[in-house]
Amino acid sequence: MQKDLKPSLVFAVSIWCIALLVYVCISAVMIFRDKSDMFAAKAAEITTSLDRRIAQNFAFVKSLEVFSTISGVESMKVFGSLVQHIMDACPRIHLIHLYELPKGDGLSHAALVASFPSATDVAAIPAVLPTVINQPRGMIRGFADPRFPGRYFTTTHIENGNAHYAIIMLLDVAEMIKPILQSGAPEVEWIIGSVPAILLNDEQDSFFSPWLRLERTIVPGLHKTASEDVTNFPEGTVFRISETVDLSELFNPLGLAAYCSLSAAAVAAAYYSLHQRRLSQRLRQSEEEALGRAARLEKENRLEHAARVNAIGELAAGIIHELAQPLTSLLSQSQASLKTLEENQTHVDFLKRAMDANVRDAKRAGRILGKIRDYIVNTVAVPEITTLNSAILEIVDILNLEIKQRNVSLVLCLAEPSPVANINRIELEQVIHNLVRNSIEALGTLEQPQKRITIQTIADHTANIIQVSDNGPGLSQDTLAQLFQPFFTTKNSGMGLGLSLSQRIVQRVGGLLTASNKDGAVFTITLPKVEPVPATEPHRMVLAVDAARDRQLEHAINHFTASKRFAG
Ligand SMILES: Nc1ncnc2c1ncn2[C@@H]1O[C@H](COP(=O)(O)OP(=O)(O)O)[C@@H](O)[C@H]1O
Ligand SMILES: [Mg+2]
Repeated sequence: MQKDLKPSLVFAVSIWCIALLVYVCISAVMIFRDKSDMFAAKAAEITTSLDRRIAQNFAFVKSLEVFSTISGVESMKVFGSLVQHIMDACPRIHLIHLYELPKGDGLSHAALVASFPSATDVAAIPAVLPTVINQPRGMIRGFADPRFPGRYFTTTHIENGNAHYAIIMLLDVAEMIKPILQSGAPEVEWIIGSVPAILLNDEQDSFFSPWLRLERTIVPGLHKTASEDVTNFPEGTVFRISETVDLSELFNPLGLAAYCSLSAAAVAAAYYSLHQRRLSQRLRQSEEEALGRAARLEKENRLEHAARVNAIGELAAGIIHELAQPLTSLLSQSQASLKTLEENQTHVDFLKRAMDANVRDAKRAGRILGKIRDYIVNTVAVPEITTLNSAILEIVDILNLEIKQRNVSLVLCLAEPSPVANINRIELEQVIHNLVRNSIEALGTLEQPQKRITIQTIADHTANIIQVSDNGPGLSQDTLAQLFQPFFTTKNSGMGLGLSLSQRIVQRVGGLLTASNKDGAVFTITLPKVEPVPATEPHRMVLAVDAARDRQLEHAINHFTASKRFAG
């Protein structure tokens, strides 16, 4: 039973594993979707914030333009205090320079009018002056220069009458980004023109990165004109935010633990109830099998009992036959001697008394034999219309288990509709039982691998036939000659009454029981033909024993059967 249960346990565990896998996948997809939504919100926030800062820088430069073109010491003071104010408020602005540009292209004579903070990177800034001089007048622009890593410029070229001015603002890219990344730390890449202005938190690619990367690319400093979207970065700019979701983030350990325990409990409960159902099914099955076995055993006992009763009859008939004749001659001889003694008075009294006793005992023995004969005569089996196939199936049902256990295969070739015969059903079953049992016993002595018993019914024109054959050792000439004689047996524990009794039963209804050889032993029961009639009443036990008739005799028989067990 344990063995049978193992596959279903494996099945339950597999179901649980599959369910767990499905749960893990679905929950991972849902977590990834949540993360993706959160990232999209974060990216939108960062974009807005960056755009606002870029616009702010441009606004600072715009306001400085106004004061830069007014000549005079006072205006320079106002310019200076405005720059100071801006730089104090915005740590991302590293420096602001104001240049006065000479007319024509005498760039080398460009004069630094104001520098904030003073003397910082003064020497370096003229390097970008040619770019500023060539940019369209009155347009504020942003660009990066590889000579100033991590920084970018916001510049303007102002033309006021004959005078030209340039304002150069240098910004720290990291400072621009820093406050907007406080909400989290995605990977950031900002390329201005072809210069990589910043690269932050660049993660190493893993196997899962392509599937687990969230990414957003924007163009900062974009603003709308009537006809198109333009940016103040003339060489173009790209700002990319990306985030790689770690595989471990896709698992919710609490949810997983809860799911594991709940699903395991559900699967265990389902398995347990299935297991219980199976157990009770098995119990029911074995109970039914036990009942079936008990019923079969009871039937077999009944058959055996009937066989024993018949065997006693057989035995008694033998005893009567054997004893009747010597008893008769003993009686007649004793009577003749007695008569001679009475006529001839010379004989002694003693002899007379002995002869008297002889006569008395012989008469008594004769009476006992007579009673036994009476008893046998009263053991009547009433013939009835019996369906041959159903009688065979009844016996097959009884002996089937034993046939299987002995590894014998049973072949049934039953004519349809079933032939019938006018024979007591119990007695016919007894005959078939004897024949099949003999075949089982004959096959039991063999080692051959394919043991077979065949039972056949044949409806002939003149008779109905049952044939029981086997592929056993068959019948020797010697056995064939004595087979049906009472007490003939070749078995150690056999009684040798089965076949003689069977023959008597069959002959009593006008049939024949014959034996022959063909691949083994063949026994043929030939029964006189009767027309099939519809079955009316269930068959009943028809062996009647008139027990009250002679108590003494019954005791004698009981004693006899107890001391010797009869079988076919
Ligand atoms: N199918 C058979 N194959 C071989 N021998 C058989 C078969 N049936 C009967 N015999 C022989 O006939 C004998 C008499 O059988 P039976 O009258 O049933 O008495 P028992 O079975 O007690 O020996 C058996 O001992 C056996 O030698
Ligand atoms: Mg027998």
